[in-house]
Amino acid sequence: MPVLASLNIHNLRNLTQANLGPLSLHNVIYGINGSGKTSLLEAAHILGTARSFRSGGAKSLITHGEQSYVIHGERRLPAGGVVSMGVQREKAGGMTLRLAGEPSRSVSQLADELPLLLINADSFDLLVGEPANRRRFMDWGVFHVEHHLRDHRRRFQRALTQRNHLLRRGKLDPSELDVWTRDLATHAELVSEGRERFLSALRQAFEPLISELAPEIGPVTLSYRRGWDASSTYSEALQRSLESDQEQGFTQSGPQRADIKVTVSGYSAADTLSRGQQKLLVCALKLAQGQILAGEQGDVLYLIDDLPSELDPERCERVCTALALMQVQTLITCVSPSAIPMDWLGSDAEVAMFHVKQGSVAPVSTAVDNGKMA
Ligand SMILES: Nc1ncnc2c1ncn2[C@@H]1O[C@H](COP(=O)(O)OP(=O)(O)OP(=O)(O)O)[C@@H](O)[C@H]1O
Ligand SMILES: [Mg+2]
Repeated sequence: MPVLASLNIHNLRNLTQANLGPLSLHNVIYGINGSGKTSLLEAAHILGTARSFRSGGAKSLITHGEQSYVIHGERRLPAGGVVSMGVQREKAGGMTLRLAGEPSRSVSQLADELPLLLINADSFDLLVGEPANRRRFMDWGVFHVEHHLRDHRRRFQRALTQRNHLLRRGKLDPSELDVWTRDLATHAELVSEGRERFLSALRQAFEPLISELAPEIGPVTLSYRRGWDASSTYSEALQRSLESDQEQGFTQSGPQRADIKVTVSGYSAADTLSRGQQKLLVCALKLAQGQILAGEQGDVLYLIDDLPSELDPERCERVCTALALMQVQTLITCVSPSAIPMDWLGSDAEVAMFHVKQGSVAPVSTAVDNGKMA
């Protein structure tokens, strides 16, 4: 069911006054380069997270020459009715969040209200980027499914920092080091077990998705690398590497080195797959993530920037079909609407189309003409 009913934007990048709505379950936003498509997704992202997904300071988001931006949205409630959400940011740095007309201090309240997932060009990093990208992905899963592990993640990080600090200092007090080593081992094991559980839940959702989206590429395997020798506990691994850790001045193994190894027929997916195949794999991971999130929080909003890029029409349609089956709300941008195959929508599908032109948004009729949008 649609999560977001409407989005109003004032002075965000080139969107001086834009109204995106009424929103449907699926929303296709098209326009030429520089028209404001990504900025519309950015606005939805800010509404749900209080931050952008693009690099650059918060000030660069405010329309040049203006003092603040305001984003306002209406979130549809499962029981009927809407709740209003708002984010305002001043050039001077102040930020105001509003929920149901009341000022709110908590970004996590916004996130609970509007769970969203983003697929854009940066999503390739999940496959081809540094392991830290995949650790963030796992930790996202862990924290959404097992909230109590947030505290263990924090305590793991603290113990690691303290232990590394002692190792770097050289002059060691063995009993002090021992305290942090034990603390580190306890929380690291819990964090790692949580990541492993998330990965097995992810695999269950991912496997059918990848075989729908890219059956041609062969079997894809997601293997968990926990960051230390799999045959021992972390505590044993830390004991074994104590001398070498002292020499190096930091803790060499542990969850801070964890990764997901993605292979296709035994070969590294990042080194083997074509760009389009990589995109399909990343989409399967993100859709699997959405299924887990939907299981926890109900509604999910997907922000998909330039869906057709890198994909041929048939494979683009496969992604659309998978999204339609999930019944999640989507905001999909593209340069040309003809690049989005409309057959997936069916005659009774809930779809809205918007044309963005120099920062202005206009709804477009979605009358079906021979299976294609007008
Ligand atoms: N702070 C700002 N004030 C005014 N205009 C801005 C600001 N920041 C960016 N812009 C402009 O906003 C416009 C919209 O950018 P956006 O990235 O949303 O375009 P887009 O439609 O996604 O384009 P593309 O198809 O190239 O991805 C661009 O012309 C950009 O130069
Ligand atoms: Mg863009």
